[in-house]
Amino acid sequence: MPRIKINGATAIQSNPSNTVLETMESAGLEPEYHCRDGHCGACRCKLVSGEVEYVGFAMAYVQGDEILPCISRAKTDIELNEVNYSIKEKRA
Ligand code: FES
Repeated sequence: MPRIKINGATAIQSNPSNTVLETMESAGLEPEYHCRDGHCGACRCKLVSGEVEYVGFAMAYVQGDEILPCISRAKTDIELNEVNYSIKEKRA
């Protein structure tokens, strides 16, 4: 399974059948998102290395090195930068 490295700090295992956004959520992260459908650009981040495949149509503007995690899956190990996320608080 490809690994997803986030902001040079966190690394998680990708789930090949989930989008990168869903994979981050199931790993306990709370990435920023709004539409989850490639429209708003809220989830936009930079792809530093690796390859993703799009599973939806990107309507939001992205530059050449940016991706929309809500509609992409990791094809290889990938490294992302400028991901806005927080970590879920553990419930006692
Ligand atoms: S959440 Fe809207 S483009 Fe990803």
